[in-house]
Amino acid sequence: MTTTSLITGITGQDGSYLTERLLSQGHTVHGIVRRSSTTARGRIDHLYHDKNIYNQRLFLHYADLNDSTTIRRILVKTQPDHMYHLAGQSHVGTSFEIPETTSQFTAMGTLKILEILRDLEKQPRFLHISSSEIFGRPEHSPQDESTAMRPVTPYGVAKTFATQMVQLYRESFGLFACNAICYNHESPRRGESFVTRKIARAVAAIHAGHSDKLRLGTIDSRRDWGYAPEYVDAMHRMLCQDQPDDFIIATGRQHSVEDFLAFAFDSVGLNWKDHVEHDAKYVRPSEVSNLVGNPAKAEQQLGWTAQTQLPELAALMVKREIERIT
Ligand SMILES: NC(=O)c1ccc[n+]([C@@H]2O[C@H](COP(=O)([O-])OP(=O)(O)OC[C@H]3O[C@@H](n4cnc5c(N)ncnc54)[C@H](OP(=O)(O)O)[C@@H]3O)[C@@H](O)[C@H]2O)c1
Repeated sequence: MTTTSLITGITGQDGSYLTERLLSQGHTVHGIVRRSSTTARGRIDHLYHDKNIYNQRLFLHYADLNDSTTIRRILVKTQPDHMYHLAGQSHVGTSFEIPETTSQFTAMGTLKILEILRDLEKQPRFLHISSSEIFGRPEHSPQDESTAMRPVTPYGVAKTFATQMVQLYRESFGLFACNAICYNHESPRRGESFVTRKIARAVAAIHAGHSDKLRLGTIDSRRDWGYAPEYVDAMHRMLCQDQPDDFIIATGRQHSVEDFLAFAFDSVGLNWKDHVEHDAKYVRPSEVSNLVGNPAKAEQQLGWTAQTQLPELAALMVKREIERIT
């Protein structure tokens, strides 16, 4: 059965992969974009310029997450079966610099959408992209869907509020509303300020002889890193379930930033120790620890498992950066 989906954050890493996936399966996609001074939207430009797709099965609508009236109007007009809420200030480090903006979009932005859905005659199935950051410094590892939320970053606090509101609206108002509690997922489309993309770009530049050094903060931080196109598949599967529920979406494996450095530099025959320097300016005021997810429920109920291992992911990100340079 083909569906009509509405995606917030369609121009982001996940939004672009999700859109490609839904379109390739024959679904119709409406995306919400913010008005900016340029219409260049790198990650979805190939779809926007395809006459067989844009305004045929892909439609874009202007709205900021603050703009409840317009979002309501878009929902009433497009009547989606599924709504994927991906938009938000997605950078944990930056959330220390702009905690109000982060909370306004990530926490209140989600609540505003839930309030609109509550009043709609035709309520779409709703998916919110939550984050492992809700667990902060958890009492046990790996974390599962019942682990207590103990966020330690402004981003984590905002995601915790949104996650709990989604649960509350599901339980109190009967919305088909789900949380995909996603651990880090990367790709060549990752934002340039994220550490994996930053490393991949630096390795390509060093390999090409354009630079020699990469400056980083803490490199012993450990994360559960997966490959973004696989994560959007899990998101779609969640909305095709009979009942709304929350799922941990993770690989179940933990690696350090140092491991990622080694895999990325190794992929072009370089040693990271010759090129990486510590820079205290990238150290965060407060760091999560021991985040690694237990994806057993997603495996059992969604039939979903992360496939791509970190060495392969690091190598494919570096390869893409080398292609961009050449
Ligand atoms: N990637 C991960 O590892 C990960 C892990 C856990 C959770 N998440 C969450 O998953 C979601 C998608 O992640 P991502 O990696 O795709 O993030 P991303 O690449 O940073 O994309 C964020 C998207 O949100 C849009 N957006 C931000 N503020 C907005 C606003 N006020 N109004 C309308 N749109 C706004 C951005 O639009 P512009 O293009 O105009 O900036 C962009 O389309 C985010 O909520 C993120 O926090 C991501």
